[in-house]
Amino acid sequence: MIKFAAVVVAAGAGERMGGGIRKQYLELEGRPILARSLELFLDHPSADEVIAVIPAGDEKIVRDLLRPHFAPEKVKLAAGGATRQESVGKGLEALTAESRLVCIHDAARPLASKTLLESLLEAAIHHGAAVPVITPGDTVKEVGRDSFILSTPARAMLRLAQTPQVFERGLIVRAYRKAAEENREATDDASLVECLGEPVITVPGERSNLKITTPHDLALASILLKGADRNR
Ligand code: CTP
Ligand code: MG
Repeated sequence: MIKFAAVVVAAGAGERMGGGIRKQYLELEGRPILARSLELFLDHPSADEVIAVIPAGDEKIVRDLLRPHFAPEKVKLAAGGATRQESVGKGLEALTAESRLVCIHDAARPLASKTLLESLLEAAIHHGAAVPVITPGDTVKEVGRDSFILSTPARAMLRLAQTPQVFERGLIVRAYRKAAEENREATDDASLVECLGEPVITVPGERSNLKITTPHDLALASILLKGADRNR
């Protein structure tokens, strides 16, 4: 079986969530969001390294938070940076295992399923880079600073990108190095691979794999988890 490493980025401030505690530390149906996001990989037999990128100085907070949920030594901690991209970069630098694939995941997406991870690993083995996407439910508008619409891109071709995004290790390391050299900042990892001119395959994502950004998302995630328990 092909081995993979996982980098889970959890070094954000959670400003849009508000409140005193960073959103990745909040409880979601009895377990911290960060623990749920890490468990996707920790539970997988082919994961040979799992790295959590956390805010510098939060090592003790995170160890204490995770201890009731799994042995702390199962997760390696790395200090994050000022942007998501910097945090992923630090996670990639912290990799020590020689696994062929790297999964990059937002701690803020605690509901990604094992089935989704399997389909991404499979696609990345064949294509080198794989990203989960969903179709937008709403019509997407490009809007100017003056609030007037500039254009309406054809919806049939639009997709919303989620995480985990899975890459051949050499490819993603090269993409991050080039972005750093060129001072380029992106909000997802695949776009840096796209800048290399390398193909990225999409696989069907999951509507339930929402990114927890606001208190509304947290409430929604709770409802989804309760519903999943009921259907089990
Ligand atoms: N992230 C990170 N390092 C940063 C910024 C973001 O590791 N400097 C992580 C977040 O912890 C999150 C993921 O990247 O898991 C996606 O970012 P986002 O949802 O924007 O989280 P925050 O940046 O924490 O939230 P906000 O933008 O509302 O402050
Ligand atoms: Mg952010």
